[in-house]
Amino acid sequence: MRAIVIDGYGGRDRMRLDDRPEPTPGPGELLIDVKAASVNPVDWKIRSGELKAILWLKFPYIPGGDVAGEVIAIGPGVSRFRAGDPVVAFVDLKRGGGYAERVVVKESATARKAEALDFREASTLPIAGCTALQALRDHGGLRSGGSVLINGGAGGVGHFAVQLARAMGASVGATAGPSNLEFVRSIGADRVIDYHREDFTKLPDRFDVIFDAIARSTFPACRDRLNPGGAYVTTLPNPNVLVWGALQSIAGLVGRAKRSKFLWVHQEGADLAELGRLADEGKLRPEIAASFPLDRAREAHELSEQGHVRGKIVLDLS
Ligand SMILES: NC(=O)c1ccc[n+]([C@@H]2O[C@H](COP(=O)([O-])OP(=O)(O)OC[C@H]3O[C@@H](n4cnc5c(N)ncnc54)[C@H](OP(=O)(O)O)[C@@H]3O)[C@@H](O)[C@H]2O)c1
Repeated sequence: MRAIVIDGYGGRDRMRLDDRPEPTPGPGELLIDVKAASVNPVDWKIRSGELKAILWLKFPYIPGGDVAGEVIAIGPGVSRFRAGDPVVAFVDLKRGGGYAERVVVKESATARKAEALDFREASTLPIAGCTALQALRDHGGLRSGGSVLINGGAGGVGHFAVQLARAMGASVGATAGPSNLEFVRSIGADRVIDYHREDFTKLPDRFDVIFDAIARSTFPACRDRLNPGGAYVTTLPNPNVLVWGALQSIAGLVGRAKRSKFLWVHQEGADLAELGRLADEGKLRPEIAASFPLDRAREAHELSEQGHVRGKIVLDLS
């Protein structure tokens, strides 16, 4: 099968198209014929070695955590899927394998593809969609009637977060650059802040949840922008989040402390199913900024690394 392979940590030039043996599904696993894979910043952070302290790779490594396609074969013990099913899956990043014509995934990290989405759209859901859902629901505790500010509302994670917060019945504020203000408003933000002109941490508004999807702020800078008992959630760990998280947990034992949380997305088929259900109900629509064939994956990484993608980048293998 054709796959993008890296033989060691480094730049985009390490990515090469190769012919690799097809993987075989083990117990509780599925073999998928990949129709589309989406690109996430974590893919090039893994490739460069930035994450090697937490994600040590064995080479050759096939990047890619998000796929959509059709089940070709199932391993022992798989009960919810069979050959021919259209699915979306969150690939184990340590094992890798998304940028390939075939990939093995866990049944527990797979869901049936939403009917409202084509394979390219569905492939965008796993990492960015689950991150947004887990950040707002599990870490932020966002409720209907609550309020949230999403920093980076036009990006992969952010544009899902805006739509999910809206679907949860919250009022939504979001930051974006000038070219994305209208886009962020169109997907459900009531209050849009142009980060080129205004710093949301200096505005008078207060929120129940601040979700920093692009991890550019700090908890101390955001604390006064949170309502009592509110939560600050960020996608990248930094010492002040960890220290403040611990201090606020202690303070939370005696009162309604504001909380500081770091999130590491987990592979969850039930969350993928929930995202698909929302797509079928017309409440969630992935935005695709660019689509590349597999052999142009380097260009997809180059675009992602620039940090200004609206929505998602996809590799189209169909
Ligand atoms: N911890 C985890 O489990 C986890 C999971 C997923 C992602 N992440 C991390 O989360 C981050 C975001 O991921 P992503 O997929 O959303 O990235 P992305 O799609 O590449 O984000 C690009 C977006 O960020 C916006 N942006 C850039 N600078 C901004 C600023 N100063 N203020 C507001 N918006 C700004 C851009 O909007 P403009 O073009 O308008 O500037 C663009 O739409 C990455 O660092 C990723 O590695 C972590």
